[in-house]
Amino acid sequence: MYAILVHGGAGKVSPERFDSAKKGTRNAVEAGIEILKSGGRALDAVEAAVKVLEDDPTFNAGTGSVLTFNGEVEMDAAIAYGPNFDFGAVAGVKNIRHPISLARQVMEKTDHVLLAGKGANNFASLMGFEPHDPVVQRRREQWESYRKDFLNGDYKDWPKLRKLFQEHPEFLHGTVGAVAVDSHGETAAATSTGGVFLKLLGRVGDTPIPGAGTYATPHGAASSTGLGEGMMRVLITKVAADFLKMGLDAQHAATAALNYLDNTVGTEAGIIVVDRHGEIGYAYNTPNMSHAYFKEGMKEIESDL
Ligand code: GLY
Repeated sequence: MYAILVHGGAGKVSPERFDSAKKGTRNAVEAGIEILKSGGRALDAVEAAVKVLEDDPTFNAGTGSVLTFNGEVEMDAAIAYGPNFDFGAVAGVKNIRHPISLARQVMEKTDHVLLAGKGANNFASLMGFEPHDPVVQRRREQWESYRKDFLNGDYKDWPKLRKLFQEHPEFLHGTVGAVAVDSHGETAAATSTGGVFLKLLGRVGDTPIPGAGTYATPHGAASSTGLGEGMMRVLITKVAADFLKMGLDAQHAATAALNYLDNTVGTEAGIIVVDRHGEIGYAYNTPNMSHAYFKEGMKEIESDL
């Protein structure tokens, strides 16, 4: 029984972006189904799905990523392979098209788990990744406007950014992720993001941290979205994986993990989960989390916000 579930980020999707968010997540699921329906691997399916989302400027990952305070794009991505807890990630990587594929190269071609900054970019060159500018005009305009507000004092101090993000979850939308189980019962997760608007250069979020933004075990896989500073402290995807191990199904694990976050650090977030039996689950505490899924036997892809 195969299944794939993707998200395009928790936050607030403005009505004029509803259609593109739905279409984008459906396209990503289709890319995954192409692989899974012929007996392909969950690992290939989640990478293919996230590559589609990274190429879609609707989402805050790859092309269309949000800008740092300094006006650059620094991206984080991670991929996790459930059967043996394998994990590969990159943080603060610049000027490449598919950070998720670089994360996979870290997992498969190195003895490391996470490469950051200049080292990650050097590794990308070594692996033959072509330079690619991920900045799009819409993000540059948003950056100019938010930065002006910040400099005018409307953002107050950095510690207050967290409160600001809670009051304006629209700032957060966009991290993308995919979880899948294949017909061999193997699970995998992949997550990719430009991070959060106006982040300091060098800031790394939850996405590339094992158990925070991305995790997979033999029992299932999870990918999260939202304000990384909260999820890194409670390791929300590890919490979901632990619930799966205790015997909860994917939906109960997703709900319980989000409840745990709400009752501890209480930040804006969303999570998607698949279990090894082919069940899917998702939960979010923001106005929207664009998502789409397909399970073997369904007639059509389901998608919603
Ligand atoms: N969840 C994305 C980030 O905080 O970087």
